[in-house]
Amino acid sequence: MEKNIIRTNQLKGIITPPGDKSISHRALMFNAIADKKARITGLLESDDIQSTIDCLKLLGVDIKQHAKGIYDVKGVGINGLQLPSENLNCGNSGTTMRLLIGLLSSINGQVRLVGDQSLQSRPMDRVYDYLNQIGGKISSENKNGCAPIIIEGSKIKNNDPIKLKIASAQIKSAILLASLTSRSRLELIEPIKSRDHSERLLIAMGVDIQVDDKKIKIEDFPSNLQSLDIEIPGDISAAAPWIVAALIHPNAEIQINNVGLNATRAGIIDIFLEMGGNISIMNKRVIGNEEVADLIVRSSELNGVSINKELIPRAIDEIPLVALAACFAKNKTTINDIDELKVKESNRLVNTIDILSKFGGNVTSQNNKLIIHGVSKLNGCRLICNIDHRMIMLAGIAACVSEGESTLINVESVGVSYPNFWDDFHSLVQ
Ligand code: S3P
Repeated sequence: MEKNIIRTNQLKGIITPPGDKSISHRALMFNAIADKKARITGLLESDDIQSTIDCLKLLGVDIKQHAKGIYDVKGVGINGLQLPSENLNCGNSGTTMRLLIGLLSSINGQVRLVGDQSLQSRPMDRVYDYLNQIGGKISSENKNGCAPIIIEGSKIKNNDPIKLKIASAQIKSAILLASLTSRSRLELIEPIKSRDHSERLLIAMGVDIQVDDKKIKIEDFPSNLQSLDIEIPGDISAAAPWIVAALIHPNAEIQINNVGLNATRAGIIDIFLEMGGNISIMNKRVIGNEEVADLIVRSSELNGVSINKELIPRAIDEIPLVALAACFAKNKTTINDIDELKVKESNRLVNTIDILSKFGGNVTSQNNKLIIHGVSKLNGCRLICNIDHRMIMLAGIAACVSEGESTLINVESVGVSYPNFWDDFHSLVQ
């Protein structure tokens, strides 16, 4: 699919982003091993979430769609997952694969996890190395740390605190799930606090988790998880393209409803407020144990800032869009500690620089930093996109604020996280 995009004179409208991807995966997986039936409302219906649903069905879980975005999951109990009759295909979804490694670490038998070309080049040893140190038997078929992954189910037992080297909610959640299914006590310390959706859900499902900033401790897991009816808030990562579009377009006002603002995820709001962004936060409320609000974002004069490493895990999926906004800011923006961008659905460090440079941005990297000098304008271009959904959305927003016309080629992979992205885009730019 190809898109021709011309900058419009104004950008005005109301968007409701789809359900949060991280919470959708977890609501499905955790309820899959709970004790009864749960109803999930506002589930993200995208390719990544379909990968999780398909894997769970192969593991014997009954998941039925009741209506649009509403799903019923019948829990099979903490150790009730069946051996699948075929490989579990995680598609493009790193969260599916990494959380399944934890969830299935003690299954009775062998499971093989595969994924698409992008996923099969992403590091999985960052998860299973920790588990193997405490009794797991998990390996990479090609011995390169990437999928295909073979899990030989075995109980883990963990006495000592686990100190994570990387701030990653996927690693943390996999270890949590492995400890839960083996009923092994857990003490885990992160270098910087990562998103805490797993902890919030598990606490609501009856697990006694002591949380002290970067440290979590569970002395005793229950023998059952209580099924949890849950409403999923809108995804701040899907709201981010519209936040950036409104900030940098000269004549914009976009209302974005129902945005999850969990403090461990809402780093971009802090970044843009510090840059001088005009963002009003209204109707603060709590949905599904998560803070939610409606936003109104207006055209803004942004100033360059230095973004330190403590903020990165709270905005990791939005950093490419922050770099785009920084192209329109006065002076220089430095984003520190961006190594993790290299191991996402694509090498987002290289791709952010490539894409923004094609539009005329001044973006470079040096010593684990991304450096962006504000420019007076970006110019439309012709771009062949890769399969990374977030890079395609970045290119779409860059095109809609650039002078002249842009042609974007291969733009369909937005379906990984935001199937209606282009419909919402056209509703704003017409
Ligand atoms: C996610 C955590 C982040 C994020 C990813 C989703 C999650 O990855 O980039 O898109 O749902 O836990 P890391 O945990 O590897 O930083």
